[in-house]
Amino acid sequence: MIINNQKFRTIWPNDGMAAGSRSVSIIDQTKLPHAFKIVEIINMSQMIVAIKTMQVRGAPLIGAAAAYGMALAMQDNCSEEHLQLSAKQLTQSRPTAVNLRWAVERMKQLLLPTPVELRLEAAWEEAAKICDEDVLLNQAIGQHGLNLIQRLHSQDLNKQHNRQLNILTHCNAGWLATVDFGTALAPIYAAYDAGVDVHVWVDETRPRNQGASLTAWELAQHGVPHTVISDNAGGHLMQHGQVDMVIVGADRVTSTGDVCNKIGTYLKALAAFDNHVPFYAAVPSPTIDWTMLNGVQEIEIEERDGREVAWVTGMLASGEVTEVNILPANTKVANPAFDVTPARLVTGIITEHGVFSPNQLRDILK
Ligand code: MRU
Repeated sequence: MIINNQKFRTIWPNDGMAAGSRSVSIIDQTKLPHAFKIVEIINMSQMIVAIKTMQVRGAPLIGAAAAYGMALAMQDNCSEEHLQLSAKQLTQSRPTAVNLRWAVERMKQLLLPTPVELRLEAAWEEAAKICDEDVLLNQAIGQHGLNLIQRLHSQDLNKQHNRQLNILTHCNAGWLATVDFGTALAPIYAAYDAGVDVHVWVDETRPRNQGASLTAWELAQHGVPHTVISDNAGGHLMQHGQVDMVIVGADRVTSTGDVCNKIGTYLKALAAFDNHVPFYAAVPSPTIDWTMLNGVQEIEIEERDGREVAWVTGMLASGEVTEVNILPANTKVANPAFDVTPARLVTGIITEHGVFSPNQLRDILK
């Protein structure tokens, strides 16, 4: 992604230093949209904090961050004991997105049989490979999604609809949530770049406002027309024909096509189903958990600190960024961070291999 004429990924190693003192840079997403701040991570503990506090977030990006976390761990100590412990601690840093476990497992499978003296270099190389692969997967999702959008748009033109194609998205599944390009936003960027007249309805995505703070910022950087709406507005817009399709990302998709994504996604899928609006999830294959059959029953939903619901961050007229409490004192708060949309509400899953209906998803394995 280009920011101020500079090309950025969301995470990168700082090369050029001695192999034993490398660091990893990230864009601190807790500071956006008010400040674009790069943070240097020098050890695994700092990477775990960055994942837990959501300085890095989004399923593919936390997978990449965990992979670099393993490389940083090897920098401290390459022993098998430390490798196993680091893998466990990184895996536990956030429970819902399967990409994190996938990346740590991949690092473990590579590093355990590697001779101790070669583990450090192998870890840095594998983490970089995971990042490069993520970029390619997302580009492929963008192309498959573009074909879908173009088909839908030409159908709309035939029906003499408004020429603009309105796409609703929830949370942030853009380049900030991945290493680059994004998942749900990749087809939207591709469509915009191909000259399709797209407009995006951006759900604000309480409690952490990833839509309002991150998706709106990203789309503005790229010049894509968009409007932020409150989380409760989507159903109304769908009833009035103002949403042509929904595209969301995912944190974990079962082999049966149940889609786990940011809290509130399920309600959008219900409204889309009721209004015959196609509902798509854009999903790279590391987000598919082939071991699970029933998302509602089996996926662990992260419960986050109630403080995220009670306190809202914003910028005062003076330019100072501050937090304000919006609840009466001593109010009890619950904060489930994700929900599961059953496959029956999902029109299709856009993967790097093409677009599948939920019940065809297993064909990817073939
Ligand atoms: O809690 P977050 O911000 O990490 O949640 C992110 C999401 O739910 C995204 O929609 C999902 O990870 C897909 S990212 C390409």
